[in-house]
Amino acid sequence: MTFPLAPFALDNNTVLPLLSTLVLVLIALGLKYRKVNRIHIPLMLSAFALDLGMVVWLEFNRLAVEKVVGGVSGLLLFHVIVSIGVVILYVALISTGMKLFKKVTLSPTLHRNLAVAFVIGRLINYVTSFFVGSA
Ligand code: HEM
Repeated sequence: MTFPLAPFALDNNTVLPLLSTLVLVLIALGLKYRKVNRIHIPLMLSAFALDLGMVVWLEFNRLAVEKVVGGVSGLLLFHVIVSIGVVILYVALISTGMKLFKKVTLSPTLHRNLAVAFVIGRLINYVTSFFVGSA
């Protein structure tokens, strides 16, 4: 999609990397404020909402496009698989985060361990996105 009235060309290749970078900033701030629920939770949920719009929808879109154009590269497949893993980790983090918030008994390190896997996956997703087209 393009935005013709913008002062400079705002197409998928500009907007999506910017949004993806914004998600990383939200996550970094959310981690910084991990002990402050009223900051941590809205930041992480906002990152999730933005990512859902991009990561899920775009990956399937891109896969569909590549399939039509001819063949899916190994890197794209890896990127898509990592992206799906990241979405699953988001759901697990929201679920365990809600339990922590409601003080439901939970392994004390589960949310943190999921967070470590999530951050690694989201960074891999960010870097590979620049090699498989738009972020
Ligand atoms: C991408 C999503 C998220 C990441 C990466 C993340 C990461 C973290 C990390 C690293 C901690 C510190 C854990 C520790 O020190 O043992 C934490 C704490 C916590 N998180 Fe999350 N989180 C995420 C989403 C959420 C969500 C969606 C909720 C709630 C719905 C939530 C609720 C909490 C709570 C209640 C704590 C404990 C805060 C405290 O120590 O008082 N988190 N999170």
